[in-house]
Amino acid sequence: TGKFTYDPGFMSTAACNSSITYIDGDKGELLYRGYPIEQLAVNCDFLETCYLLLHGELPTAAQKEEFVGTVTQHTMVHEQMNFFFRGFRRDAHPMAVLTGSVGALSAFYHDSLDISNPVHRDVSAIRMIAKLPTLVAMAYKYNIGQPFVYPRNDLSYSANFMRMMFANPCEEYKVNEVLVRALDRILILHADHEQNASTSTVRLAGSSGANPFACIAAGIACLWGPAHGGANEAALTMLESIGSVEKIPEFIKQVKDKNSGVKLMGFGHRVYKNYDPRAKLMRETCYEVLNELGLHDDPLFKLAMELEKIALEDDYFVSRKLYPNVDFYSGIVQRALGIPTSMFTCIFAMARTVGWIAQWNEMISDPEQKIGRPRQLFVGSEKRDVPAIDKR
Ligand code: CMC
Repeated sequence: TGKFTYDPGFMSTAACNSSITYIDGDKGELLYRGYPIEQLAVNCDFLETCYLLLHGELPTAAQKEEFVGTVTQHTMVHEQMNFFFRGFRRDAHPMAVLTGSVGALSAFYHDSLDISNPVHRDVSAIRMIAKLPTLVAMAYKYNIGQPFVYPRNDLSYSANFMRMMFANPCEEYKVNEVLVRALDRILILHADHEQNASTSTVRLAGSSGANPFACIAAGIACLWGPAHGGANEAALTMLESIGSVEKIPEFIKQVKDKNSGVKLMGFGHRVYKNYDPRAKLMRETCYEVLNELGLHDDPLFKLAMELEKIALEDDYFVSRKLYPNVDFYSGIVQRALGIPTSMFTCIFAMARTVGWIAQWNEMISDPEQKIGRPRQLFVGSEKRDVPAIDKR
């Protein structure tokens, strides 16, 4: 005791050096490998963003073609996975199914256990980026009792995912490019976010030399919580429970009452003390998607905008620098795409997989890497003797 700094929640401890993602929380700025998220969201697709996060530079046209080709070669999961899925209850939460099925991947790819070999690390990264959409769509199809839809490799990453989610095997599935682009944007915006709770979990799990599938499964488990990736699901449930614009003041009153335990989900962030730049882009995407679907008057979107307006003028939120985060609007977009609320965090996991893998690889490649082993300030009993059972 006394030798260590007490820092619950890691408010002021930098646990690693990283050159992947930079956040300026006061300015509300997010950069992947130096590139502003606003520019990436408009000029790049998700797989280009994956290449950037993994390799440090945007791909040339030839590099992109090769990368996309490699990813699409790995979209299928082992047929044995079908039986693994059948072990779950149909009504299981899809995040439980995803945590289990991603963890199970290391049972299929023995080369992933040899993390000292960069070739094996690279192929594990590609496998995970390629297979997550397949597993997420399988979790959904299993839940609704429909047959699994196999990946189609002539489609883009996001179009293939939409088809695996929504195609009826007996009919041709028509891809809507506006909706596909919106999904791709969701994936870009969620791809990495430096040392958040799930990424730190992946790094800590990986620091012991555990295989990358096991580490990503640990990250998915951490992401599930409502304070982290589960916030998009919680934010939409909150909007639905508020129900109408007239009920907002009453709801805000509850949030401000510290004894109520009610939070404004999709608001606040450990690092951003300004508008989350991802939330702005997500709000624009909301407009695009709702317009495309002829839902300009979507009551939930109107409710969210009004709630944001009221909160941003309220002293409780102003004084604490609480602004909308990415999850405030992402649920509305996902709902408009037809994705059920219980799947929202799975979509987040699908997007964040590349960030987790890039961060894991950065850590493993660092010659100074050590096992993560936080210390504690011991506040328990002093040394004492065990009394006989009749003396306790
Ligand atoms: N609603 C009401 N009050 C809040 C909220 C909120 N959403 N967020 C923070 N506060 C209050 C908090 O009660 C505290 O008040 P006081 O100083 O009077 O005790 C103050 O603001 C500071 O908050 P904090 O809890 O110390 O901040 P933190 O950095 O520990 O927590 C957070 C950050 C994201 C967990 C929190 O803001 C929160 O729970 N937000 C709602 C859940 C959410 O939207 N999460 C998604 C985060 S972004 C995507 C992701 O990372 O997955």
